Amino acid sequence: MQVTTHSTEETARFGETCSRLFKPGDSVSLLGDLGTGKTVFVRGIMRGFNYKGAVTSPTYTLVHDYKANQRVYHADCFRLRNRAQVLSAGLEEYFSDNSILIVEWADLIAEYYDQWNWILKFSYSEKSENSRIITFSRHEVSREETLKIIIGDFNTET
Ligand SMILES: Nc1ncnc2c1ncn2[C@@H]1O[C@H](COP(=O)(O)OP(=O)(O)OP(=O)(O)O)[C@@H](O)[C@H]1O
Ligand SMILES: [Mg+2]
Repeated sequence: MQVTTHSTEETARFGETCSRLFKPGDSVSLLGDLGTGKTVFVRGIMRGFNYKGAVTSPTYTLVHDYKANQRVYHADCFRLRNRAQVLSAGLEEYFSDNSILIVEWADLIAEYYDQWNWILKFSYSEKSENSRIITFSRHEVSREETLKIIIGDFNTET
């Protein structure tokens, strides 16, 4: 499915809408070039969960932990380009049944982990500077499957 937004606020509002679709245990992959609105979208999601703090991409810490109506972990893989760094970052710890994991630039860790319940792709629209095209899809990924991938991968690494 695809939506087009025409302003920063509209993308945030779309995030707010999506917050009603995302369920505990879900993992969400946000793809797209720099400045296409991934973080703006996460800000909207957190507004939907009534989070009052700031929502920015983690730069110093690897993952932000937002405690709101729904617990959300927010990661950005732009700096985590290889498997070793991801493992050392302990991303696998953030897959849990009662939280939602949202990862910007998740394609950069595809080699390590590529099973997501939601995949959203952000792109610029030629129509206007402030338009963005967002395509999204839902995938059934069982928690067990997720754990198997993570644990299996971890074991073969050593
Ligand atoms: N329709 C729109 N949707 C989202 N952001 C928009 C839109 N139009 C303009 N913008 C602007 O584009 C920028 C999007 O920035 P944002 O940090 O969300 O991008 P990003 O995809 O997270 O980039 P990065 O890959 O660097 O993390 C903001 O400055 C925002 O105001
Ligand atoms: Mg961002």
